[in-house]
Amino acid sequence: MKEKVEALKNEILAFSATNQNELEQFRLRFISRKSVVGELFNEMKNVAPEERKSFGQVLNELKNTAQDKFKELIASLEKGDNGFDENVIDPTLPPSDDKLGSIHPLTITKARIVEIFKRIGFNVSEGPEIEDDWHNFSALNFPENHPAREMQDTFFIEKDPDIALRTHTSSVQVRVMENGKPPIRTLSPGRVFRNEAISARAHCVFHQVEGLYIDKNVSFKNLKETLLYFSREFFGKDTKIRLRPSFFPFTEPSAELDISCFLCNQKGCNICKYTGWVEIGGCGMVDPNVLENCKIDPEEYTGFAFGMGIERIAMLKYQINDLRLFTENDIRFLKQFRSVNW
Ligand code: DAH
Repeated sequence: MKEKVEALKNEILAFSATNQNELEQFRLRFISRKSVVGELFNEMKNVAPEERKSFGQVLNELKNTAQDKFKELIASLEKGDNGFDENVIDPTLPPSDDKLGSIHPLTITKARIVEIFKRIGFNVSEGPEIEDDWHNFSALNFPENHPAREMQDTFFIEKDPDIALRTHTSSVQVRVMENGKPPIRTLSPGRVFRNEAISARAHCVFHQVEGLYIDKNVSFKNLKETLLYFSREFFGKDTKIRLRPSFFPFTEPSAELDISCFLCNQKGCNICKYTGWVEIGGCGMVDPNVLENCKIDPEEYTGFAFGMGIERIAMLKYQINDLRLFTENDIRFLKQFRSVNW
């Protein structure tokens, strides 16, 4: 009997109630007349007379313990205490908001561009970010006095005017052509550097993707079809492209690539500055001088090249209005790309 009382006492002391329902269960089990405690009082008549007094005392103590606990439970429920012990892990609780990272929008954009060109036979090539004058400029047909070589654009390595941070991924073209033989179909994504003040529209570090196709009989039409294919795959099947005559030392003829504004459907918006078109890069037929510089016979081979800004494309695609967001690593910005498939 003593053991039974002891077990009940322990049960009473360990009880916790987080709501009225549980409180009522406690009352029914330990306080009410038909409770286990009440029933023990009924058993008094079966106890030997000489033990009744001490048994009665034990039962009264149990009853008091139950009543004290009951008051305590009422008080703690009124206080709003849910009885939750923070040191106890409750495995039945739903998981808290996860802290999963997300893929950077530039990584997503680069991967998508690469994937689209891989489908039509382009491979991926890379080159160094610290370049020499030959690969960044001279082999690409930049005249000696071209303004792009000057200090305001290029980060030169101190003490050696021949070495600089590459200003464009076109340098990789040269390396691929020097080291391989046509046919060449390659895509070179990478980081480039220019000595520019940082603002919403400009940065001293950004990314480009370069494309190069060298083979027999590569024509301007091939260039246009390739860019149209890419633009439709990336921006949507109704996208139109426009090539505007332009100049780059390493291509002849050269053009600027515009796509029809997919945000306003060419009705006019502030992204396309009400022109219906947005520029995404430059392109052209590889200049015969460049082929020669890279030991490829321009009589036998022709080719096209193009270069696009990855930030520019990501900004258009995801409607990002400030270039600095890409490098600030603000979690609120990055989190928005968690659900983007790539
Ligand atoms: N390298 C050029 C730039 O940084 C972009 C470019 C234009 C690359 C035309 C090309 C091209 O391959 O054909 O502005």
